[in-house]
Amino acid sequence: MRKKIIAANWKMFKNPKESLDFLDAFLPMVEGHDRDDILIFPTATSLSTVIDKVAETRVRAGAQTMHWLNEGPFTGQTSPTMLTSIGCTHVLLGHSERRLYANESYEHVNLKLKAAVAHDIAPVLCLGEMLADRQTGYTKDTLLAQMGAALANLPAEKMETLVIAYEPVWAIGTGSSATPEVADQAHAMIREELHARFGPVCAHQTRILYGGSVKPDNVSQILKMPNIDGALIGGASLDPGSLAAMVHYEL
Ligand code: PGA
Repeated sequence: MRKKIIAANWKMFKNPKESLDFLDAFLPMVEGHDRDDILIFPTATSLSTVIDKVAETRVRAGAQTMHWLNEGPFTGQTSPTMLTSIGCTHVLLGHSERRLYANESYEHVNLKLKAAVAHDIAPVLCLGEMLADRQTGYTKDTLLAQMGAALANLPAEKMETLVIAYEPVWAIGTGSSATPEVADQAHAMIREELHARFGPVCAHQTRILYGGSVKPDNVSQILKMPNIDGALIGGASLDPGSLAAMVHYEL
């Protein structure tokens, strides 16, 4: 059994004070919750505050992106060693908003993935097709191309901490998620490709999260699907009661 992950992507919301207010309300609601892993991805300026606040709990926090080099003249970037220096354990890579608005390519994501595993930062690799890809029957080709570029030249033994988030771009922030069946089908394709690339152990162990308009009222249906090992949640993760309700999803 793969332990499920409930992950909150806070995007560009919540300063340190707002993050602490959230955690003051949220942490007691999930105290002792051991069934699932809980991850929070705050914005860069709140990351250190959140990491310190959750240190004594089971909740972990990660960065929303990073550079692949340790230092250099790269204005605005954060390096893997800077993240590990503040106790950061996870990083989101290749989120579609970074692909759309920050020109991030899967070739860059590949460099970042290699750097993440080299520094023991668990990568959460985001994949997902645009609406046009789905409408024209190119979902599978798109996902395979994204995986091909992002996972190039990575050996199976480096994949132990890899988490994948399938996030169809047309479902992100739109209020209408993929149906559990449609999502599960995409997850099955991704798992098949992991099998082809890295073998049965990796395919079996890797947790594949679904993201795109997950809310308290659809999370249980989505998490019931056999290939779905958790959720990456944006909008609905910003309220402590809403995120806690999703952590306590019904099996
Ligand atoms: P959403 O965002 O839950 O607001 O659709 C998900 C994501 O972008 O990770």
